[in-house]
Amino acid sequence: MEIKNKEIVSAAKPSADQLALLKGKDILSAAQFTKEELDLIMETAAYYEKKVKDGEVLKDMEGKVMASLFFEPSTRTRLSFETAMSRLGGSVITVAESAKVQTSSTAKGETLYDSIRVIDLYADVIVVRSPQKGAADEAALAAENPVLNSGDGAGEHPTQALLDIYTILKERGDLKGLTVTLLGDLKHGRTVHSLIRLLSHFGCHIILVAPEKLRMPAEIVADVEKLGVDVKQTDNLSEAAAVSDVLYVTRIQKERFENEAEYDLVKNDFIVESELLKTAKEGIVIMHPLPRVNEITVDVDDYAGAAYFRQAGNGVPVRMALLALVKGCVR
Ligand code: NCD
Repeated sequence: MEIKNKEIVSAAKPSADQLALLKGKDILSAAQFTKEELDLIMETAAYYEKKVKDGEVLKDMEGKVMASLFFEPSTRTRLSFETAMSRLGGSVITVAESAKVQTSSTAKGETLYDSIRVIDLYADVIVVRSPQKGAADEAALAAENPVLNSGDGAGEHPTQALLDIYTILKERGDLKGLTVTLLGDLKHGRTVHSLIRLLSHFGCHIILVAPEKLRMPAEIVADVEKLGVDVKQTDNLSEAAAVSDVLYVTRIQKERFENEAEYDLVKNDFIVESELLKTAKEGIVIMHPLPRVNEITVDVDDYAGAAYFRQAGNGVPVRMALLALVKGCVR
């Protein structure tokens, strides 16, 4: 199979009018974007990807500080944001902690609102992940500077969904008319809550495959259907894979279950193995936001269309684009 991975959008610098679109804005939900803004983010990501590939040393964010606040575990999101800021010539201050390991004044009972009021005086842009749904909105109320939601509990993860769209564009060249299947924990999975909303701008057909108790929230499906998007729900993974151009796999979100027994009941419901690829649509692209647990077996990694590691790499140019756009610093 030929991997496209080609230049999908113009890597030219966006125009001054375009660059004004996101300046000073928060990135809180995938529902906030217009198609014009999405195109701008994709183009700016391609612009930065090319510059980094060409070995350019960038100074777009020189003198600026990004606060990277992670109150829930993260590997890719935090490190790709921090890499993005470094590649743009800016600096990073970090809080990375979980309920078990706490080093900030959150452990003393400080509210997120108070913390952000202060951090806003230190940094020019604030990236926040929290186990609480709505935390990024609260942070945005406290901050004058732009806030970027990097995952709020089982709510949303809009920057991940943007890099997912960028990945599909790179792997397939276009999104129009593609059938995209979202698989796994669609109830608690914040990446898919954001991704389904972004897909609705691109003329895709959507199939949802989930254990019965972990279906996509009905209000999100209704919102997307209102936009005229065709959404099918099924529990037959092999039938869905047979007609899909993209299969987006997610982890069952163990940490969001009330007890382990409930998690155990569903954890093995859908496993993507190389056997499935034999009857899947030719050229199907397999994606996953990572981390994976057992939902894609490692033998799938050798398949040319297994895009999940390339997908994680795309986090850097997409987050460079977001940081520079919200600060109006694309040079
Ligand atoms: C996701 C997340 O944190 O929501 N990971 C990520 O950001 N790449 C997905 C997950 O944890 O399952």
